[in-house]
Amino acid sequence: MRIDIITVLPELLKSPFEASILKRAIDADLVEVHFHNLRDFTTDNYKTIDDYQFGGGAGMVMMVEPIDKCISKLKSERNYDEVIYMTPDGETLSQGIANHLSLKENIIILCGHYKGVDQRVRDHFITKEISIGDYVLSGGELGAAVLCDAVIRLIPGVLGNETSALTDSFQDNLLAPPIYTRPREYKGWKVPEVLFSGNFPKIEKWREEKAFEHTKNRRPDLLDE
Ligand code: ADE
Repeated sequence: MRIDIITVLPELLKSPFEASILKRAIDADLVEVHFHNLRDFTTDNYKTIDDYQFGGGAGMVMMVEPIDKCISKLKSERNYDEVIYMTPDGETLSQGIANHLSLKENIIILCGHYKGVDQRVRDHFITKEISIGDYVLSGGELGAAVLCDAVIRLIPGVLGNETSALTDSFQDNLLAPPIYTRPREYKGWKVPEVLFSGNFPKIEKWREEKAFEHTKNRRPDLLDE
């Protein structure tokens, strides 16, 4: 998979890709992540990427031309499955969207800033708009990092244990059941006996019950879907 991220603040985005699972995925050539600074696609001496809103109103708007130049250059080099715009009024990111995107070959992610981008960018280039939640960030970069993390960990081979992403919370619309490790007893707090039974169907059934109970208590809305 190849991800091209268009941003005015590449330095804000780089560190999540320089550590942990994302770095391992990049080092193992399971994913390529490229950053493109929008200011490199400006034509004036001031490297202007934003301007005042037509019709008046507070806040600057990202201009169509540098974004067009950047996206058009990328599209001339390869085909893209999706051109995603990170914005608080997009579709809320879910495990389903992450699963869907993890199967794609090439995607572009455009990070917004200020008031956002000129509507013509959204009308003519963007194929999907994603929000990471109902709150406003100062730019799309942190949202793009969250999206990339959620997607990249699902690419086959990225996680050490191939089945581990399948048992995550949300994969089957259930939250994950409780998990335990050594010691078997700590300060009198005991690990549930069933986990030592060696009876795997029974353990599986216990986990399903716990996952259901936990979901019912904390996220009953997931059970309605
Ligand atoms: N840009 C600003 N706020 C955002 C959000 N909640 N999700 C994605 N991108 C954003």
